[in-house]
Amino acid sequence: MAMVLGVMFCEARAETYTQFTNGAVTEHFAWRDTSGNLINAHDGGILWADGKYRWYGLALRPLPAVNGPDGGQKTTVGVVMYSSTDLYNWSYDGVVLACSDKPGDPLYAPMRFERPKILYNAKTKQYVMWFHYVGYPGDHKNTLGAGEAGVAVSGSINGPYTYKGFTRPIDEKGIVRDSSVFQDDDGSAYFIYDRDVREKGPGFGRVLHIVKLTDDYLGFTDKWYKIENAVAREAPVMIKRKGVYYLVTSAETGWKDNAANYYRASNIFGPYTELPNPTSGPYADVTYHSQGTWAFEVHGHPDEVIFLAERHITERMTDCSYILLPVRFGPDSTLSLPYLTAWKWKPWPR
Ligand code: GAL
Repeated sequence: MAMVLGVMFCEARAETYTQFTNGAVTEHFAWRDTSGNLINAHDGGILWADGKYRWYGLALRPLPAVNGPDGGQKTTVGVVMYSSTDLYNWSYDGVVLACSDKPGDPLYAPMRFERPKILYNAKTKQYVMWFHYVGYPGDHKNTLGAGEAGVAVSGSINGPYTYKGFTRPIDEKGIVRDSSVFQDDDGSAYFIYDRDVREKGPGFGRVLHIVKLTDDYLGFTDKWYKIENAVAREAPVMIKRKGVYYLVTSAETGWKDNAANYYRASNIFGPYTELPNPTSGPYADVTYHSQGTWAFEVHGHPDEVIFLAERHITERMTDCSYILLPVRFGPDSTLSLPYLTAWKWKPWPR
């Protein structure tokens, strides 16, 4: 009997999905992989590689988000990967960038590869992953090693990725907070980050910056741009459509949800015009209880962009859930993110 129940239990958990399920705005839909386990790939991204969609992110712990070695917002595993052919059903492919269990190692856990983002470099045929590196014990601090841009590389999407170290773009005065990457149509790529300068004087404060990466994507060039009007904004998500750059951001309230906004430019290095919250309706003031993570084009449909956001639950970080929304572009180069409780991707008009 117990065995029968056990089997039934397993079967009930390993569901087959036929659509994106965001649930009500106040819900936390528990999305499971094809083995029935909760998808544990936080604040990462989705890309198409080698004939499949790949979803990667930080493997968190079922613990509250607190400072110190026991915080659930840190990882003791690393960055993990899932794959899917339909965007709804994801199978777990394992750890692609692993933490270390050796004290003194830069990847000694718990630590953070926060907001990891992967780009494919067609010239070098390498996958390059950038993240906000926070060394052991993974608490955000201002000291060197606790607020950095970390990079790892692999010849295969599924890794293993080799950690290449961390650095601070522009100069060491600028502590790295939230970060992301963006790949332009010409193959050039950019690191986008919340640069936090604590030292009084030039550059003081927290402002989003965009730094051009080297051709191999593994380092920074001296070409960068400060988005002067993106003060105290984070969770940057860059989208480009028809020559227009849209940068969706959140306010800075830690894990607590707040109102998104976006910036628009016709050049990656600005100037950027600030525009209002792209979400609307109930709970738009808290971005549908979420914070942006990434946006990606549907394979073969470059005009179809899907926005990935995360609903943080600080009481137990593995309960943070994901929402996916269609990105709508208006005729006057506006961008909006309508809320849908459940939806299937299909070409516009739907
Ligand atoms: C958020 C940020 C996250 C994480 C968190 C920590 O605002 O977007 O990436 O850093 O704060 O409190």
